[in-house]
Amino acid sequence: MSSQHIVIIYGTRYGQTMKIAERMQEVLTAAGHTVPIACADTVLQNFSLSEFDGVIIGGSVIVGHHQRCLERFVRTHRDQLNGMPSAFFSVSGSAAGTSERDQTNARRVLDEFLGKTGWHPRAVATVAGAMAFTKYGVFTRMILKMISRRAGGPTDTSRDHEMTDWDQVARFAREFAASLPEPAAVSCAIP
Ligand SMILES: Cc1cc2nc3c(=O)[nH]c(=O)nc-3n(C[C@H](O)[C@H](O)[C@H](O)COP(=O)(O)O)c2cc1C
Repeated sequence: MSSQHIVIIYGTRYGQTMKIAERMQEVLTAAGHTVPIACADTVLQNFSLSEFDGVIIGGSVIVGHHQRCLERFVRTHRDQLNGMPSAFFSVSGSAAGTSERDQTNARRVLDEFLGKTGWHPRAVATVAGAMAFTKYGVFTRMILKMISRRAGGPTDTSRDHEMTDWDQVARFAREFAASLPEPAAVSCAIP
């Protein structure tokens, strides 16, 4: 298998999407790829994707939307993204739900992000996030506990709960890397 240059860009509010992005980086690096990673709100305006064979972008859903910085990044680089192999993962509480309604909601927010940015990634996934109760303020913790209870999720607010399916995360990254075209062979023909 050839070594690819894949960049991962993420948006996060409470850290779970960063953790997921870092796991993808780990998996791809272990497979021999070169994988820089960056938070969308720290990426410079003149950042170029042209040196990469592929890009994976992920963000979390907070009150029905992904991070503004992620939207800005995708809008800024849309033409380049649509002309190269790219993938998007959307991290949410809904994606952890077992009901069809939860799964539909998770997918709807993902599709809305793609619709409003005009980006057409070749691979997409909704990924279950976390209930990071210890990181929330009192009010947020109370609301999230209520929502989680209704969805049959965790309610012990004395600790954080990770719902992420790490096998899915690793599979998504590996399958995307495997879908990239082989880099052109370097020829050193003797004249
Ligand atoms: C204030 C708040 C609002 C949230 N809103 C939604 C939502 O609208 N839909 C959803 O599916 N999950 C929602 N979640 C769950 C988050 O998507 C989930 O906790 C995710 O892991 C957050 O990722 P992050 O740590 O990378 O920010 C919300 C969580 C919080 C704390």
